[in-house]
Amino acid sequence: MRTLIKNGTIVTATDQYRGDVLVEGEKISLIGTKLAIEADKVIDAAGKYVIPGGIDVHTHLDMPFGGTTSADDFRSGTEAAAWGGTTCVVDFAIQYRGQTLHEAWENWMKKADGKAVIDYGFHMIITDLTEKHEAEMDALVREGVTSFKLFMAYPGVFMLDDATIFRALLRTGKNGGTICMHAENGGVIDVLVKRALAEGKTAPKYHALTRPARAEAEATHRAIALAEMADVPIYIVHLSAAEALEMVTEARDRGVPAFAETCPQYLFLSYDNYEESGFEGAKYVMSPPLRPKETQAKLWRGLAYNDLQAISTDHCPFCMKEQKELGKGDFSKIPNGAPGIETRMSLAYDGGVGAGRISLNRFVELTSTSPAKIFGLFPRKGAIAPGSDADLVVFDPNKEQVLSARTHHMKVDYNPYEGRKVKGVPEVVLSRGQAVIENGKFLGRAGAGQFLKRAERSI
Ligand code: URP
Ligand code: ZN
Ligand code: ZN
Repeated sequence: MRTLIKNGTIVTATDQYRGDVLVEGEKISLIGTKLAIEADKVIDAAGKYVIPGGIDVHTHLDMPFGGTTSADDFRSGTEAAAWGGTTCVVDFAIQYRGQTLHEAWENWMKKADGKAVIDYGFHMIITDLTEKHEAEMDALVREGVTSFKLFMAYPGVFMLDDATIFRALLRTGKNGGTICMHAENGGVIDVLVKRALAEGKTAPKYHALTRPARAEAEATHRAIALAEMADVPIYIVHLSAAEALEMVTEARDRGVPAFAETCPQYLFLSYDNYEESGFEGAKYVMSPPLRPKETQAKLWRGLAYNDLQAISTDHCPFCMKEQKELGKGDFSKIPNGAPGIETRMSLAYDGGVGAGRISLNRFVELTSTSPAKIFGLFPRKGAIAPGSDADLVVFDPNKEQVLSARTHHMKVDYNPYEGRKVKGVPEVVLSRGQAVIENGKFLGRAGAGQFLKRAERSI
């Protein structure tokens, strides 16, 4: 099967030019101007951008949390991702205490198998790290699970102590893996949560008020310091606070290989959302929490100047009905997380490129190329080049869309950006050469997505 994408403006992390892209089978085979080549299918991209498919390196599909399970499974979640111009996700498998890392990986492979409509990889969440598990980390890196998430928060559930974190970091120095850190001081937060509840402070906003920015900054600093002592790079996930960004910036300015992502929720929403009436603030209960509005400009600056290297979603949707509701009368029982897998690319384009905060190239870099490099997917993904997977998006920069739970494809009963108008919408989405979104229709197939054996970091 040959597909020719004609007359578009090809945009990568470094280039922007008018051209045609020929796709043969699953791969990009040729790029040129005015290609006079017969094809089975021709897509006219005149007036549109042709960009590498989005790569979302932080999703939680079908994930048990707080007595319930995230609302999107690998079927609905990856379809929603495709609608939003994302053609690859890296989700998190969880090793529970007493399990081997391979058991955990196998469990998540089963969740995705036959369901994913786009390609996927896994990070491994480690909650139990014996010497045997350390040896397993080496095997996992060889087998394509090349990154590990550790938690400095959620004591008694996911949290690891500094010595264990340090051992994991040291191990990546040997095996080439990457540690991804949830950086919040879980011990401090636990004390603050207990005190708030004892004082009868039970509303959703207390989730944010018991997770101070300094608790994120302290953990971010500590995580980077531990990585520095282990002499390995580190990647901070879902960075939300300006104070935490300062820690990353300071380290990078000293030449420390500290990387970090932020997410659209921290760029577009703020603490004010927790003050919405009734139980509405539960929609935004996530960790780390939303921060003061002034933080947004600082995060955008971090993205523009490469103190932050990726925009991911931390997509972890829970319906208000029956899921978020579990925390009515006790904010600490509200499942943590919010939806976003479908809205990331349009929000980042509209709020980033449209608002003049980042360049078009930087938009591609932050949403696709840089995460591909950090997580060992480049140049198979995140590039428009001969030999790369034909994960491509024809993106209409002038089309407008109103974000709403009534029209989105995520299986969740609210949209945190309800009613927000965005300019810049994916029009055609190819996953390894196959159209999955075209003419306003989903054309993908459950099970077409493949597990990605990732390589080591290339940045
Ligand atoms: O609130 C969040 N972020 N939920 C998902 C789990 C995590 O820590 O990423
Ligand atoms: Zn986390
Ligand atoms: Zn997460």
